[in-house]
Amino acid sequence: MIDKVSVEAEEAVWPSAELSVILPTFNEAENIPIVIGLLDEALHGIAWEAIVVDDNSPDGTADVARDIASRDPRVRVIRRFGRRGLSGACIEGMLASSAPYVAVMDADLQHDETLLPRMLQELRHTDTDLVVASRKVEGGDIGSGLSSFRAWGSNVANRLAQKLLNVSLSDPMSGFFMIRREKAEALAPKLSAQGFKILLDMVSSAKGRLKIRELPFTFRERQHGESKLDTLVTLDYFGLLLAKYAGDVISVRFLMFGLVGASGLFVHLIALRLFLVVGSFEFNLAQTAASFVAMTSNFFLNNQLTYRDRRLRGFKAIQGLLTFYAVCSVGVLANVGVASLIYTEPSYWWFAGASGAIMGAVWNYAASSALTWRKG
Ligand code: GDD
Ligand code: MN
Repeated sequence: MIDKVSVEAEEAVWPSAELSVILPTFNEAENIPIVIGLLDEALHGIAWEAIVVDDNSPDGTADVARDIASRDPRVRVIRRFGRRGLSGACIEGMLASSAPYVAVMDADLQHDETLLPRMLQELRHTDTDLVVASRKVEGGDIGSGLSSFRAWGSNVANRLAQKLLNVSLSDPMSGFFMIRREKAEALAPKLSAQGFKILLDMVSSAKGRLKIRELPFTFRERQHGESKLDTLVTLDYFGLLLAKYAGDVISVRFLMFGLVGASGLFVHLIALRLFLVVGSFEFNLAQTAASFVAMTSNFFLNNQLTYRDRRLRGFKAIQGLLTFYAVCSVGVLANVGVASLIYTEPSYWWFAGASGAIMGAVWNYAASSALTWRKG
């Protein structure tokens, strides 16, 4: 009897949230109090909570958010160390929710929070699984929030996604959506934590099994702080497109690694030419030196792109470079070994050469992910 009363009393005081709004942040200290104030206004009458997922922003966003959370139980903070990435932050935030519905929204005031109640209505009263706030559908507006170059790039990216993946979203790059938590939960293990393309990743991973509705909105201009989306993120997006197009047989990371490796060939040839002509090195010395230049360039590109979420810095980067040299040297042996095994006849030169190169790349990838860019 007493138990029942206390349970009822608890329910009355702490109704659990129906909607979790995930706010990924990196350097949004000035914006976060404003966003939470706006959510409070827009979500009046709805049992909501905000989950701020901060990647240890140097401007102290997590402290600001925690300060609000200490006065407002609807606000929670997840602070992550040693990791960067919008998609990963959103996934972690969604998995921290127990509410039936979760929304992901930028914390920089560019997304129109007044759309949230309409998105929620849609999920509550129809069989829609995912509501996307789209900057492109009729009535929506790209607004002045994107530069014309970015608007153009974003168009190209959208059209590619539509063509390659058969994703019929008008704004697959949108970072503003609401989804049934159970659906997000089921998709989470398949998603890539890198980059900005969580929505596209979710929709293409669901392979047509999500019922989607798009609602228009106007993308606002940023007031405080700056955008973190850079050209590397765009490359990462194309990596995802290719990997999904290949039916997920090849991981995005391996694809990036392969692209970087291919760029290394060019670097190698340019360096070789320079050492021979400008440096007047002997061929063997020039070839060795060029290999080091190419390995070094591959290391830094992989550190920037392929492993941007595990990026090595300072002393660790030097250590990483040395292990990468070691890994690649063994890779050359694997490459030559396999090639010479296959090379039984001169007309097989290309098959032997390609097999060796693939063997070398697979070895380099596997070994460097275990040794150079170790997890955790
Ligand atoms: N936790 C975390 N970690 N949050 C991040 C990170 C990160 O590495 N990078 C960015 N964020 C947060 C920002 O603090 C902001 O709240 C939100 O994610 C969006 O980041 P912006 O840097 O403002 O992105 P944008 O405005 O350039 O890009 C917008 O448009 C893109 C499409 O053109 C976003 O809506 C993207 O989601 C969208 O893909
Ligand atoms: Mn923004």
